[in-house]
Amino acid sequence: MVPGGSDVYGRARGTKWTVVPAMTIVETMHRHQAARDAVLQIANLTHVYSGGVRALDDVSLSIPHGMYGLLGPNGAGKSTLMRIIATLQRPSAGQVLFEGSDVVKQPGIIREALGYLPQEFGVYPKISAEALLDHIAVLKRIGPAPRRREQIRAVLEKTNLSDVRSREVSRFSGGMRQRFGIAQALLGDPHLLIVDEPTAGLDPAERARFHDLLAEIGENIVVLLSTHILDDVAKLCPRLAILVGGRVVAQGEISALAAGLHGRIWRKSVARAELNEMRSAMCVVSLRYQEGRTIVHVLSDTSPAEGFELIEGDLQDLYFAMTSERADAAISSL
Ligand SMILES: Nc1ncnc2c1ncn2[C@@H]1O[C@H](COP(=O)(O)OP(=O)(O)O)[C@@H](O)[C@H]1O
Ligand SMILES: [Mg+2]
Repeated sequence: MVPGGSDVYGRARGTKWTVVPAMTIVETMHRHQAARDAVLQIANLTHVYSGGVRALDDVSLSIPHGMYGLLGPNGAGKSTLMRIIATLQRPSAGQVLFEGSDVVKQPGIIREALGYLPQEFGVYPKISAEALLDHIAVLKRIGPAPRRREQIRAVLEKTNLSDVRSREVSRFSGGMRQRFGIAQALLGDPHLLIVDEPTAGLDPAERARFHDLLAEIGENIVVLLSTHILDDVAKLCPRLAILVGGRVVAQGEISALAAGLHGRIWRKSVARAELNEMRSAMCVVSLRYQEGRTIVHVLSDTSPAEGFELIEGDLQDLYFAMTSERADAAISSL
């Protein structure tokens, strides 16, 4: 028996050996597992534009199979990151590995596997959808002609554009244009699809149709979806990264990230006049409006004031907790 007894780990009191906390071991294992499963591995990526804007600042991400959301406000660096992955831009520093190969050094490897729908899909010429797809397929070196025709038929069907294949793309609605954008990206059977803010400007019905299409595609390949619309990610993506000012402020499974808010999100219905005072006194992470009433959500380890009720945080709470400056100190422990 050791004099003085032993502590909860069974260590003799006074013995000097360091115990690595179990959580650290589990986290390290998870990180190694994530790195092994990743199809796309981004390491310490930094991009500084010639004017001096640091659009990406030491970004590291592990992106596995399925749909992955890249969420962030305008100017966060989402399009810059996607253009670098698509090899349209070289980063100032850092690495992008696709299935283990260095994309910056060997751009050809990812180009063959990639479908890309840029944020601005450019000019829509006055030619039919089918003719434009054929033109793009030739540029992608898909041949011979019968194989090209079969692929065009398949992507038109998948994007539900077969009936309008003879119509000029310039006359398509917003939703049809976005589906056409996916159709052209799917030519060549990509294993990786990058779509940059594809749902901006779509009406609710078009957005729902677009969600169905992406969900189906995401069952088979890696889809990297950037958006500033929380609903897109909430509906489609089991995993996400939140980018703010070129930095990753959160990444991983949404359910695990939301679990970090457990016991810390408080809700109260308030009068609008009380809001300013509340904002200066506590960490208000989100506001919602329900039938004319204002509901505040506050991040706090204990009840922030009388009348608050404890609730489970959702993606909106997570996003605002991670992106609001006021919340910085409070979330550092997440
Ligand atoms: N070609 C460019 N030259 C200089 N600055 C740029 C260029 N493209 C983007 N930026 C700047 O880089 C930052 C990130 O932009 P971007 O990647 O487009 O973000 P997001 O897609 O999230 O809106 C912004 O501050 C933007 O103004
Ligand atoms: Mg963008």
